[in-house]
Amino acid sequence: MKPPVIAIDGPAAAGKGTLARRIAAELGLPHLDTGLLYRGVARRVLDRGADPRDAAVAEREARALLAADLRRGDLRGPEADMAASAVSAIPGVRAALLDFQRHFGREGAVLDGRDIGTVVFPDALVKLFVTASVEARARRRFEELRSKGVPTDPETVEAELRRRDMQDAARSVAPLRAAPDALVLDTTTLDIEAAFAAALALVRERMAVEARPG
Ligand code: CDP
Ligand code: CDP
Repeated sequence: MKPPVIAIDGPAAAGKGTLARRIAAELGLPHLDTGLLYRGVARRVLDRGADPRDAAVAEREARALLAADLRRGDLRGPEADMAASAVSAIPGVRAALLDFQRHFGREGAVLDGRDIGTVVFPDALVKLFVTASVEARARRRFEELRSKGVPTDPETVEAELRRRDMQDAARSVAPLRAAPDALVLDTTTLDIEAAFAAALALVRERMAVEARPG
């Protein structure tokens, strides 16, 4: 059997990262949060005082991205969110990050993002598209920010989330959408434990079908 690649895509704050990390731990596979790549590029562009929509600068920074950039403490928050979404719409930035993602998954891995099942690993063994209502996702992101002591309010979080989803879905390169063969998991009414149980069941089911002879 080919090394299993599990692709987890979906809109912001759907629970992709949490589910991907837990599924990876459960199956003993490495995990890559691909949003960190775009966030790292965005930070490098902002460090230069450049506009995240500047394709030449963003492409150059994407090619120069280092592992240390993914461990920075300033990758989250409204400014980083929107800047990551802006650099991620630039085709050259996406192209520069493709090899690293494919190499990461070569011996099996769980990757979460927006285009893992559609572009990065179109042949992934399992593709999950994790989603939830925008209200549920905004509530989760707000709680997350509040628990970290970030000053914000629910209305602002929801407005920014809607804007970013729209930007991610409307771009011409690798837009946010479920692959035709993705299993859709709506977690609107599920807490994280229930979502994890449901996601793991879908993954195991798919792996069992694959392992069946003939
Ligand atoms: O955690 P959250 O869903 O809020 O964001 P993220 O997954 O860290 O992604 C940040 C931004 O990077 C997204 O808004 C996308 O524009 C972009 N992204 C992408 O284009 N492709 C990916 N595979 C992952 C992230
Ligand atoms: O990676 P993504 O932006 O899709 O979401 P996340 O960072 O995994 O989850 C965002 C927040 O929502 C985290 O604090 C999760 O614990 C929470 N969450 C939840 O409360 N219920 C779920 N079913 C999924 C996530």
